Amino acid sequence: MSTSKATLSIDTGLETIIAAQTRLSDVDGQGGRLTICGYDVGVLAQGFAFEEALALVWEDCFGPNLRVEALKIELARLRKVAFENLPSFGQNLQSTELLRQALARCEDKSDLNSALYLVAMCGVATAALGRHARGLPPLAPNPHLAHCDDILAMMTGRRASQEEVKALNAYLVTVCDHGLNASTFTTRVVASTQAGLASAVIAGLSALKGPLHGGAPGPVLDMLDAIGEADQAEAWIEAAFERGDRLMGFGHRIYKVRDPRADALKQALARLPKNAGRLAFAEAIETTALKRLAARYPKRALETNVEYYTALLMEALDIPREIFTCMFACGRVIGWVAHAQEQVATGRIVRPQSLYVGPLSKDAA
Ligand code: SDX
Repeated sequence: MSTSKATLSIDTGLETIIAAQTRLSDVDGQGGRLTICGYDVGVLAQGFAFEEALALVWEDCFGPNLRVEALKIELARLRKVAFENLPSFGQNLQSTELLRQALARCEDKSDLNSALYLVAMCGVATAALGRHARGLPPLAPNPHLAHCDDILAMMTGRRASQEEVKALNAYLVTVCDHGLNASTFTTRVVASTQAGLASAVIAGLSALKGPLHGGAPGPVLDMLDAIGEADQAEAWIEAAFERGDRLMGFGHRIYKVRDPRADALKQALARLPKNAGRLAFAEAIETTALKRLAARYPKRALETNVEYYTALLMEALDIPREIFTCMFACGRVIGWVAHAQEQVATGRIVRPQSLYVGPLSKDAA
């Protein structure tokens, strides 16, 4: 069906374009609601283990009747295979670049086992990169542990507490899918050419790496460190505005009210001991930031997004700042795989139009 360009309008951010029909998640930006496969994100974050959320989101593409217990056992087995295939992280590259190298070792197949292997490699490589960031060698997985429990154990060398496992679980499940965000849309574009799941997931990770997208949590902590004291917040924020800097953890293309995931993660954070003071400080900075954003952009609804409390949760779990984006990928890989499979099922390659505004055709000199 070819369409004459004269009838089309340009939208470089694609925000007015519905590029896919999906059964995976709905992001209600006006109402501040996120629904994943029929469940409110708060219900998922509180009540679903990582493997249960994976089975739910993959029901369409690899179901029906995915058995959680079988997935858990197979994922544990594949973490061991992934550990034996880890690249050596010698170069001083960013952790997301090293994670990309690890995923590049995964075969470009699109069956359930290959998809699970991508999830396993994300978790094992991220834990190893957490050790690498501290100058420590990687630790082998434990096949008797669930995914989140094992990621924390591989990263810290000790069994995590139940509260810590629940907190990581809540985070990875909360970020597992979120409509056609930049990294998921990228995944669908690559999948639409039938390049294969590993290529699609690596492309998604490359998009997630950007500070405007999944690269924001680390800079949230840098901002809190730079502000230092709550009474310094207003001056620091105004200076940031003058520098043309954006406040990491605030604003969103779709949410024009508070991102519902912020409070889902804040609840998980509140259940972890040892950070009541830090939480109170972060809340004070958040209040000042929201006030200053509203004063500077009265016509824009710049609210707290998922990354603000993500940063605090990962800090409370003693996850090194360098691997925050890799940890984000450990959750979002569930959605990337499901969206890739949804796109392949349409049989359509993603190929929008463009409007040429360059020089008119030049005769050969
Ligand atoms: C994620 O899409 C998703 O679903 C993403 C995500 C997911 O789950 O996949 O939710 C995850 O990426 C969350 C966002 C994490 N990024 C950050 O926290 C970085 C800071 N936020 C901004 O860069 C920004 O808010 C975006 C990128 C998130 C959204 O940008 P928009 O909607 O395109 O808004 P914009 O860039 O058009 O900004 C409009 C105005 C600009 O001012 P002017 O150039 O018109 O003068 O608002 C300003 C911006 O400078 N603005 C900010 C700001 N966000 C927007 N100013 C200061 N601080 C901010 N955070």
